[in-house]
Amino acid sequence: MEIVLSGIRPTGNLHLGNYFGALQNFVKMQYEYKCYFFIADLHSLTTHPTPADLHGNVRTILAEYLACGIDPDVATIFVQSDIPEISELYLLLNMNAYIGELERTTTFKEKIRTQPDNVNAGLLTYPVLQAADILIHKATKVPVGKDQKPHLEITAKYARRFNQLYKVDYFPEPEAFNFGENLVKVPGLDGSAKMGKSAGNGIYLVDEPKVIRKKVMSAVTDTGPTEPNQQMTDGVKNLFTIMTIVSAQDTVAHFKEKYNSCEIRYGDMKKQLAEDIVTYLTPIREKINDIYKDNDYLRKVVNMGSEKARESASKTLREVREIIGFKPF
Ligand code: TYM
Repeated sequence: MEIVLSGIRPTGNLHLGNYFGALQNFVKMQYEYKCYFFIADLHSLTTHPTPADLHGNVRTILAEYLACGIDPDVATIFVQSDIPEISELYLLLNMNAYIGELERTTTFKEKIRTQPDNVNAGLLTYPVLQAADILIHKATKVPVGKDQKPHLEITAKYARRFNQLYKVDYFPEPEAFNFGENLVKVPGLDGSAKMGKSAGNGIYLVDEPKVIRKKVMSAVTDTGPTEPNQQMTDGVKNLFTIMTIVSAQDTVAHFKEKYNSCEIRYGDMKKQLAEDIVTYLTPIREKINDIYKDNDYLRKVVNMGSEKARESASKTLREVREIIGFKPF
């Protein structure tokens, strides 16, 4: 059976971008594939070296995974730092990862811009650790948002390179995957192209209805179209994109028609969008809050997942060591 794997960094609550870019796919895929979903706490240190509450952040993502419908009896849910085999494979893959290509990665170049005071080696080799995450379970499908595509291409390259260097057909080449459609990028409420944790332009899964309404009502728009079928400005286009993923098709069609005939009132559209988001998120928020408090359950889930993940990871690492030539005396 094909293997699916994906992860999310624990750097705050998850937002609609994470949900529609990745998490929703996890939930759909778990019944069709053998799935591994994890919390990338080691990766989070590349941007947050001294988090105030690392454990609390991991717990948050775990509760959010479970509340969104990942079933720990079906999929394997684990925490990256619980699996030491990943770090060893990372070390081995680093030997065949070239600095020039890592320096050219778009995500690294962006981080140099956004955190110039902390351009650490972990940031540079971030894609190598991500490749280790994926290859350690020989996953072939990786449900992620569009921003992660470059990392998946690097992972495929490392898989290929390993096979060529050691003249084996060992690692499969994984692909970025989105269930049934193209890779998704959910835009921000501020007119920017991507909803993000640090951008402050998103709706979190745990946002209360009044917070959601306030955020949506203050989303960026414009003064309105002045001629039929006018091209949309970024803010308006973003609202329509978000509406397409949370609202019914005829709701979207209704507001599109109003826009195209210059009769749209953005206030009405925002009210509708806010209510549709509230309807969508209310059951999820309630579950997150319940699960977050249930330490016994969370411990059980993590122990079970870590055992399953280590079984698969240690098998791969044993084989990789043998292929490279490490031998016991
Ligand atoms: P992270 O924590 O930044 O984001 C988690 C997932 O959410 C997706 N995402 C979005 N999708 C659509 N629209 C958005 N606005 C949006 N914002 C975030 C991301 O694409 C991602 O799928 N490098 C990864 C974590 C990782 C990983 C892995 C993923 C580590 N190892 C192995 C897959 C496989 C990351 O930073 O995700």
